[in-house]
Amino acid sequence: MASYNLLLLPGDGIGPEVMAEVSKLVTWFTKQGIARFETETDLVGGASYDATKQSITDAAMGRAMAADAVLFGAVGGPKWDAVAYDVRPEAGLLRLRKDLGLFANLRPAICYGALADASSLKRELVEGLDIVIVRELTGGVYFGEPKEIVTLENGEKRAVDTQVYTTHEIERIAAVAFELARKRRNKVTSSEKRNVMKSGVLWNQVVTAQHKRDYADVQLEHQLADALGMQLVRQPKQFDVIVTDNLFGDMLSDVAAMLTGSLGMLPSASLGAEDPATGKRKALYEPVHGSAPDIAGKALANPIAMIGSFAMTLRYSFGLTDAADMVEKAISSVLDQGLRTKDIASPGQNAVSTAEMGDAILKGVQTLAR
Ligand code: IPM
Ligand code: MG
Repeated sequence: MASYNLLLLPGDGIGPEVMAEVSKLVTWFTKQGIARFETETDLVGGASYDATKQSITDAAMGRAMAADAVLFGAVGGPKWDAVAYDVRPEAGLLRLRKDLGLFANLRPAICYGALADASSLKRELVEGLDIVIVRELTGGVYFGEPKEIVTLENGEKRAVDTQVYTTHEIERIAAVAFELARKRRNKVTSSEKRNVMKSGVLWNQVVTAQHKRDYADVQLEHQLADALGMQLVRQPKQFDVIVTDNLFGDMLSDVAAMLTGSLGMLPSASLGAEDPATGKRKALYEPVHGSAPDIAGKALANPIAMIGSFAMTLRYSFGLTDAADMVEKAISSVLDQGLRTKDIASPGQNAVSTAEMGDAILKGVQTLAR
């Protein structure tokens, strides 16, 4: 039986609570002999800072490098607001993305029929929504240099972030989007701000040329990032695959998340380039939601985004399509049965705890496996 090495990094806030629900599934799949998962757990973010004064240690980075896949919970919280910038909780996540070369961030936004009323938009606008945001993850303003705050001669301060993209960085993320679209509804919307930014001009040129050269069979359109934000809340079902840079992708994926009813619903996969020798890619899977310190420790967190991220792990890292389908079907069936955590419950409706939701999904998987 195939054996896979998983590194669990639960992190801060609700991270450990939602990760615990994934652990139940991991244990069950292994016991069932569907695949053997060897797991290790390590610290990241504020939890790592408290123990080591670093947001991720070299040892944990080494484990992440060696793992077949990393499952990541969430990082950050007000407790670490005053921590030095270099060692703030988020720095641990950014180092993982950069050092593992995880340039392609896939953020699917699916609106389950059962949840269409939990969306802030009207049911008919979001019901059946199925889009993917492909966000560039290792470049742009997140990592561009210089990135600094300097004091000028007159005593005033000046802050600089640098938005920078090369042809190669744009081509490799656009290729991910085009390939993905071919397996879906064959449409890519590329988004930048070419009306204001040089990086947007280059982005647009590179994607246009690449489309003509290699992907002419895919429908391509371009939308300015602000207009795309507007279209996402006006008519979200017009989209299939959206490809955009690191910062726009960060913002637009939070918008897309909310269309589906709750930030607690969205999984994501961050993938590196395929190793030509082994055919494997480095990968990290994480819910799009953050650490939600306001509800941490109260058993209120929705574990669906984290469990959905595990389904993506099964699919993209291990090719365990049947297992991934089972997990996703189980999520959809517990929602059909009316189970809701607080974030997706309608007013007055009874909400279940994090563990109750996790147990119900596990039970759903067990039923499907029979
Ligand atoms: C995300 C988060 C991160 C980001 C933070 C936690 C650094 O918002 O994954 O969307 O900005 O990329
Ligand atoms: Mg974000």
